Amino acid sequence: MSYSHNRLYVIIPAAGSGSRMHSDKNKLFMEVDGISVIDRTMAAFRRFADEYGVDIEAILVISPDAASTWEEYIKGKSDYKMVKALAKGGATRTESVGNGVRTLKDLHPENKDPVFIHDGARCLIDSDSLGRCFSAICENGIDVCVSGVATKNTIKVVRSHEDKEPVIVDHTPLRSNLYEVQTPQCFKFGTLEEIYDRASRDGIEATDDTALAEILGYEVRIIEGSYSNIKITTPEDIAIAEALLKT
Ligand code: C5P
Repeated sequence: MSYSHNRLYVIIPAAGSGSRMHSDKNKLFMEVDGISVIDRTMAAFRRFADEYGVDIEAILVISPDAASTWEEYIKGKSDYKMVKALAKGGATRTESVGNGVRTLKDLHPENKDPVFIHDGARCLIDSDSLGRCFSAICENGIDVCVSGVATKNTIKVVRSHEDKEPVIVDHTPLRSNLYEVQTPQCFKFGTLEEIYDRASRDGIEATDDTALAEILGYEVRIIEGSYSNIKITTPEDIAIAEALLKT
């Protein structure tokens, strides 16, 4: 398929602390079947670029304390040639991505191509999921979308301010109305800039980028993702990712 755009920018937040991995090392350097999480993520974008004929420029958002480690780590690796800048991570994911957006604006102030935000920790992302999002932004006139899958489990909302253990259930939303969202989260650049400018001015934080868009009144669409696009977060996720690679 040919698209009206043949370039995309991806901001890859990679500056997490790894606290839920119970590790003092950045979880993105941990290996899944002998290859680091971040190497797998970069390879997935390179495969997408090759298979879909799209040029990709990436901005990797890293912890400023680890700048020399990252520079050394990516040196000479071909999948990192698409990385055009390292941006400074912040204390929260919203701050990290915001810095990535500002770095992209400095590099390409007149950009008209789609921008993806993709967690460095989602290393099993596949080309078809990326392609569906690219197509949504390029061809379907969508300004903001997020990869997602219908929830398989029943989800309970709990009373977050109760200090009691076990926690108390508040209510159970209708499962058929629930989606689990992932990354990529994808934007027309002008919209993304506006969202992060307003979020930074108003001090709005969220664990996902499209949640900021919703809070600020933009329509957000969910594009079919993949159940195997897991985020490496806790130690068992490494084993799950290794099992998924064998399927
Ligand atoms: O913390 P969480 O698992 O939601 O992180 C998702 C992604 O965001 C990871 O790739 C992590 O490295 C990144 N992150 C970041 N800056 C932060 C927190 C998380 O770049 N302050």
